[in-house]
Amino acid sequence: MIHPPFALARRFVAGEALPDAIEVARRLNGRGLLATLDILGENIADRTGVRAARDAYVRLLDEIALSGVDSNISIKLTMLGLDVSREFCEENLRAVLAAARERMNFVRIDMEGSRYTAATLELFGDMRGEFADHVGPVIQSYLYRSRPDVEELVRLRARVRLVKGAYKEPESVAFPHREDVNRSFDELAERLLAGGRYPAIATHDDARIAHAVEAAERLGVPPTGYELQMLYGIRPRFQEELARRGHRVRVYVPYGAEWFPYFYRRLRERKENVLFVLKNLLRG
Ligand code: FDA
Repeated sequence: MIHPPFALARRFVAGEALPDAIEVARRLNGRGLLATLDILGENIADRTGVRAARDAYVRLLDEIALSGVDSNISIKLTMLGLDVSREFCEENLRAVLAAARERMNFVRIDMEGSRYTAATLELFGDMRGEFADHVGPVIQSYLYRSRPDVEELVRLRARVRLVKGAYKEPESVAFPHREDVNRSFDELAERLLAGGRYPAIATHDDARIAHAVEAAERLGVPPTGYELQMLYGIRPRFQEELARRGHRVRVYVPYGAEWFPYFYRRLRERKENVLFVLKNLLRG
């Protein structure tokens, strides 16, 4: 596949370097929005590359602290050695979480494809005791297993981000139909709002957001008791409107040289995104 120029990804990706990400976070903060910064990349298979990624995450936590932007970070365990070995990944994850704890910040462990779900939740479970206030996992509503996983995470008082799920999964592990993914999302959101700890409801879907907000009101959860989260570049005006209405809204801001797989997932999700990119291409 021909690698397109970065300019096309700019709507969804802050830039290729760390200062670009800090600048975007600062701008979002100025509009009443919180940020979570993510270094793009996945599936690093060599130890040297993994250590470089770990150091980059620590540098990112440093820069957030130095710049004073209101942002936490999102990480991927396949960038921290999950494909190398579980022990190696744990060692690197522990280093990043220790850096976050020292800087009073928070690390969200993104959820990747289903072959990593069990290992990701186990590693989260292993870290939770040591870093309780500084780490939280992601649950994907398209997976059948997510309902019992949410029960266990509620029991553990974990801070969970709920998403629909972005990977291509077989019918043996994930709901094939959109209505089931949505129904599962609403049920899991309600369970996390009722019994969980400061859940993050991450979607651009009006009906899902309306359901979560209504459930929070009904359950007596104040707007400070949960977050709404969306991706950078998707419905930016709606993000600001929700913040103006008193919601805590956090924007996921990816940056880095390895932007193509992330950009491709955003295009695959929605034909309007492809049209947007094509229009820009034609404009030159
Ligand atoms: P969906 O794509 O079904 O869209 C539903 C509706 O939202 C649309 O019908 C439309 O109304 C509205 N909408 C969506 N895009 C729009 C646009 N561009 N303009 C206007 N309206 C639009 N996934 C994963 O597997 N692991 C992870 O760790 C994460 N992390 C993550 C963090 C955050 C903060 C977010 C928001 C998302 C993720 N995801 C993720 C991605 C997630 O799984 C999912 O792929 C995307 O959020 C897209 O799904 P939606 O929930 O937005 O609904």
